[in-house]
Amino acid sequence: MSGFQAMREAGDIDTIWQNGEFVDWEDATTHVLSHGLHYGTGVFEGVRCYDTENGPAVFRWEDHLDRLFQSAQPYEMDIEYSREELTEATLELLDRQDLASCYIRPIAYYGYHQLGVSPGDCPTDVAIAAWPWGTYLGEDALENGIKAMVSSWRKHSSSQIPTNAKTTGLYVNSLLAGEEARRNGYREAIVLNKEGNVAEGPGENIFLVRDGELYTPGLSESILDGITRQSVITLAEELGYTVHDNVSISRGELNTADELFFTGSAAEVTPIRQVDNVVIREDGRGPVTKEIQEAFFDVVESGEREEWFTYV
Ligand SMILES: Cc1ncc(COP(=O)(O)O)c(C=O)c1O
Repeated sequence: MSGFQAMREAGDIDTIWQNGEFVDWEDATTHVLSHGLHYGTGVFEGVRCYDTENGPAVFRWEDHLDRLFQSAQPYEMDIEYSREELTEATLELLDRQDLASCYIRPIAYYGYHQLGVSPGDCPTDVAIAAWPWGTYLGEDALENGIKAMVSSWRKHSSSQIPTNAKTTGLYVNSLLAGEEARRNGYREAIVLNKEGNVAEGPGENIFLVRDGELYTPGLSESILDGITRQSVITLAEELGYTVHDNVSISRGELNTADELFFTGSAAEVTPIRQVDNVVIREDGRGPVTKEIQEAFFDVVESGEREEWFTYV
């Protein structure tokens, strides 16, 4: 058992913020005819709070809020709570449950009023939950890397659906790709875009290292504009690396890469040791990945880059 189920059993977390109120975990329910349940019309965030040396702090909360509101825009979803209200609710939620290091899940979705593809007068329901969470891709993944499989499922093109909006419905594609990979003995999938170039992981952005420089698919490659991706670009450039963040990466370049790694709020910075049957790194994690990973964990453990943190 993992994530919040184990914590629930231990009785450590019991509260969810829902539509302006703190409610008991069991009472944070929604109607079965909620629009979001039928048509995938929800937008959400996955955020980490770190127990930094300066105290518990939410990593890049303001950027996650930006993305939440931007994700709602294409769906004309009106989140009626202000940034300040959502921030206050989140910080109080963590405080009430003594959560220091945890994962935070804000979600806004079309709720219950009428059913039909048009949301019409459906309300926008908003909830925030939080629970302790460890590494996403396995305990040893950060050091030894993971095996990834290029999925047979292509990512929807951004001309079909706004891939830069973090929308609940989009994640059926992530589920198909990830489960296919795990069925085949891999830890995670790499998903190609409609053109057959590298897009991202089911819940991660991807970086490639070649001749000491970094490459990551551009925003027009049908990816989510990952906040960890942005952080890693900043950190890598500060370390003196050249980062090509607006490129197309062909499938074949995965196989010839010096190093590969995933980034994401959940995955943090996770090396990829193998793609399909091709071993990229016998040693699991390459030197550039290690340096960037260390820079990332230095920041989130120290909490020193103040502009990236919202303290609880
Ligand atoms: C499809 C997808 N790509 C990339 C990411 C990484 O984004 P972030 O670093 O903002 O968590 C995520 C996770 O939110 C995701 O779901």
